[in-house]
Amino acid sequence: MTAAPGVNATVYDRCAHGYDPHIAFFRTFGRRLVDLAGPAPGERVLDVATGRGACLFPAAERVGPAGRVDGVDLSVTMVELLTSDIGACGTANASVTRMDAQALTVPEASYDVVLCAFALFVMPDPRAAVAGFRRALRPGGRCAVSVPTATLVPGDVEEVREVFHSYAARAGHAAGQRGIYSTDPAALLEEAGFTDVRASEEVARFVFRDVTAWWEWTWTTGIRSFYESLPADLLEGLRREVFALLEPTATPDGLPPGTDRPRFATARRPESDG
Ligand SMILES: C[S@@+](CC[C@H](N)C(=O)[O-])C[C@H]1O[C@@H](n2cnc3c(N)ncnc32)[C@H](O)[C@@H]1O
Repeated sequence: MTAAPGVNATVYDRCAHGYDPHIAFFRTFGRRLVDLAGPAPGERVLDVATGRGACLFPAAERVGPAGRVDGVDLSVTMVELLTSDIGACGTANASVTRMDAQALTVPEASYDVVLCAFALFVMPDPRAAVAGFRRALRPGGRCAVSVPTATLVPGDVEEVREVFHSYAARAGHAAGQRGIYSTDPAALLEEAGFTDVRASEEVARFVFRDVTAWWEWTWTTGIRSFYESLPADLLEGLRREVFALLEPTATPDGLPPGTDRPRFATARRPESDG
């Protein structure tokens, strides 16, 4: 038995092209995270692990020309592609640089808002990341973070999740796929000394056109790391089994909706660190 499969951060270089196709999952939840943090015109926002800008673009709209959004991400390809997206959209108040969220090198107390969507669960040391969020914020500044709680499956077909767990176990991963979904963002913020910590569960439903569209989408998420850890015969067996479960559920309007319930948490840096 090997350890539970984590998500290898380098996988995002391979996820970056064609990221989040068919359903705009990350953009939906990114906008919600920005709404919760509520950046005001003129504010400075740091979007940690920005990816293709699911939070960066809506935050840039909100802070307007007098404000600024700095995105950081570890993936070279995400940074390159987002740089070109920012240019193509003419978003003059946003930029992105390569940086490890666990060792932020931004100036202390320089942001009004720190965002981090769907990334703490990937990091080997999320506590170091959250401590850095606190340092980056001015006293009283707001932080908003999100993490996934399960694999999005059309029709919420539980047997599909069981197939994922069973193939993880067959590949020798002791805890199946469950470990990566256990991050508690509110607890991390509390431990790091944030105040006004509030946890919430956001719910959204997504409809995929067909099973191939869902399968393609999963390849642009951290699940890809699990697929890449499987020997070719197991990966093909997994694919066949989930297709066999999902294809009979298809209707002319697409697959039944899949429900996703990520954990969100918001907090403030205390006005005084004393
Ligand atoms: C699931 S994606 C989420 C991206 C974006 N926040 C969104 O909501 O679409 C996870 C992102 O975290 C980035 N990431 C993973 N580990 C990181 C680290 N240690 N420092 C900075 N970024 C990291 C990946 O490169 C990837 O872009």
